Amino acid sequence: DDYFTSAMALTESGVPRVPTRYILPPSQRPMLSPSIATDTISLPVIDLSLLHDPLLRPCVIHEIELACKGFGFFQIINHGVPSSVVNDAVDAATRFFDLSADEKMHLVSNNFHDPVRYGTSINHSTDKVYYWRDFIKHYSHPLSKWIDLWPSNPPCYKEKMGKYAEATHVLHKQAIEAISESLGLEKTYLQEEIEEGSQVMAVNCYPVCPEPEMALGMPPHSDFGSLTILLQSGQGLEMMDSNKKWVSVPYIEGALIVLLGDQIEVMSNGIYKSMIHRVTVNKDFKRLSFASLHSLPMQKKISPAPQLVNEDRPAAYGEFSFNDFLDFVSSNDITQQRFIDTLK
Ligand code: SIN
Ligand code: FE2
Repeated sequence: DDYFTSAMALTESGVPRVPTRYILPPSQRPMLSPSIATDTISLPVIDLSLLHDPLLRPCVIHEIELACKGFGFFQIINHGVPSSVVNDAVDAATRFFDLSADEKMHLVSNNFHDPVRYGTSINHSTDKVYYWRDFIKHYSHPLSKWIDLWPSNPPCYKEKMGKYAEATHVLHKQAIEAISESLGLEKTYLQEEIEEGSQVMAVNCYPVCPEPEMALGMPPHSDFGSLTILLQSGQGLEMMDSNKKWVSVPYIEGALIVLLGDQIEVMSNGIYKSMIHRVTVNKDFKRLSFASLHSLPMQKKISPAPQLVNEDRPAAYGEFSFNDFLDFVSSNDITQQRFIDTLK
């Protein structure tokens, strides 16, 4: 595939300025008013272990309902993914990004359908402006089907990242059950589809950036799947609040972030919304994030749950599949328009 200079390689070479290709048009720059994130918000922090206590479960479900309605995001603690598993996966990812460019290049791909892709920005062959991010993305469920294709360097990568991916998959099922319950649906709503759905792990590295006010690590977008379970190594994620103001999501050590995706917005008939978020970069530290992107199966048609459609709340979206979404992505700029808004 074609060779490119990754964001990481630029930082390592000590560039004093952001290359032109990464400079956003003025209106999209993160530090310019009214775009600047001035506030951090206290997202609800939910102790997920309490879901296992039958007496407390209803309270936690209620907290989840409030968080989903108010924010579309929440942080979770005591989530059952051991800190050793998290630390090992962070170590494996750090070593992967630290490899020389030559050692990573064989994984470069711009084809959204490839099960393993290393790259910079989002799609370096088509992006008009580059984003200050390197990433490796790999299909992760069922693990045994994909793991052999994952990076074999560093040698610990498959084992360490594999354990994290499996633990996250278990966690996402618990989270979806709780979210279904919080909507008044059966805990088992869409259970089979959830088991057969996909998990793509996006392992992101945002190197130190010499001019963070000119660039972004990721453009504004909503996640198109069902749920994203996000691990961040430091602050950088921002969400657009209901007043269209950017607010920064605080970093809480050991916590994971649950983000509702477009499929939940549609399934909930718009009672819950998938929020627009973006990633800023900074001068001081390299930030890692793992976005475990969960989706219902490719061909499954998703539509509002019949229980959530009534005279007062008619179906707000037409049905669509993940495949329809991919078709949309290949011919539209999703930073300008959300696919699900075209279904209204
Ligand atoms: C993403 O939106 O998928 C990445 C978020 C992050 O790096 O915090
Ligand atoms: Fe995202």
